[in-house]
Amino acid sequence: MARFAYVNGQYQPYGEAAVHIDDRGYQFADGVYEVIAVIGGRLLDEIPHLDRLDRSLAALSILPPLSRPALRHILRETLRRNRITAGILYLQITRGVAKRDHPFPKDAVPALVVTARRFKGASESIVSAGVAVVTTQDLRWHRCDIKSISLLPNVLAKQGARAQGAFEAWMVDRQGHVTEGASTNAWIISKQGELITRSADHAILNGVTRLAVLAAAKRLGLTIVERPFTVSEAQQAKEAFLTSTTSHVLPVVRIDQHPIGNGHPGELSLALRQAYLHQHGLLSGAFR
Ligand code: PDD
Repeated sequence: MARFAYVNGQYQPYGEAAVHIDDRGYQFADGVYEVIAVIGGRLLDEIPHLDRLDRSLAALSILPPLSRPALRHILRETLRRNRITAGILYLQITRGVAKRDHPFPKDAVPALVVTARRFKGASESIVSAGVAVVTTQDLRWHRCDIKSISLLPNVLAKQGARAQGAFEAWMVDRQGHVTEGASTNAWIISKQGELITRSADHAILNGVTRLAVLAAAKRLGLTIVERPFTVSEAQQAKEAFLTSTTSHVLPVVRIDQHPIGNGHPGELSLALRQAYLHQHGLLSGAFR
C-alpha cells in the first residue's frame, strides 16, 4: 500500500519525501519530536504529547509552525492517508533550513515532518516472559526533559543492550543512580512494596506513559516514591519494569545478569500494565 509523509505543507509519497540538506535537524539535531501510539484509530494521550511538544519547543525557542488545531488535523490526515488504525505516529519539528552556522538563523521557518506506520507493540509472549536490561553510563546532557532529536547517546546505549541480547539499556548517572532507559522510563518495586521511579527532573524525559502509570498506581493505592535509585537497589528489587508509548508497561526480569525477584514478571508490574491498558480502553491488549 502506498505510504505518505507530511513534509512542510505537503503529503509526499513516502519513498520520495525529503528535507533540505541544510535543515538544522540534519546539521545540528536542532529539533524536537514526539511518538504517539495509535490504537483503534485513536491517538493515545494526544493532548499530553502535544503539551510536551510545546514545552520542548519553548525550551529551545522554536516557534510552533502551526496552531494546535491545524497540527491535530495533519496528524489525523496522515493516519487517514496511510490507513493506519493501529501503529505509531512520529512527528518532528526542527528550527528549519538555513546556511550552516551555530547561532539561531533570523529567518528560518520551523519545519514539520509527520509519518505513520503500522506497529504491533510487545506481544503477549514478551510481556509474559519479561525483558532483560543492561546498565550503562549515561552520556547525555543536562536537559533530558526536552524531547530532542539529538539521540546519539540513546542510540549507543540501545545498541549496546541489543549487542548483549537485552531489550533495553538503563542509563546510570555519575552518582550511580539509574536515570532512565534509552527510550523508556525505569521503575522498581522494593521488597516493602513501594513503587519507585526517578522524579521528573532534568535528567529524564517525563514520559506520558510514566504519568499515566503514576495515576494508575495512585488509583490502585500503591505507595509511590519518586526518587533516584541505584543499580544495586534495582538488582535487589522485588520487581522492575519499564514504560513508554510503544511498550506500555513491560516487566523487567533481569538487570545485568541479576534475576529480579523470582526471574518472572512481577505481580504489581502486570497489575499496573492491566490498569494502564484498562484506563486507555485497551482491555484486549496492545495496539489492536
Ligand atoms: N521514547 N525516556 C526516553 C529517553 C524516551 O525516548 C521515551 C520515549 C520515554 C518514554 O516516554 P513516553 O512514555 O512519553 O513514550 C522515556 C519514544 C517512544 C521513542 O523515542 O521512540
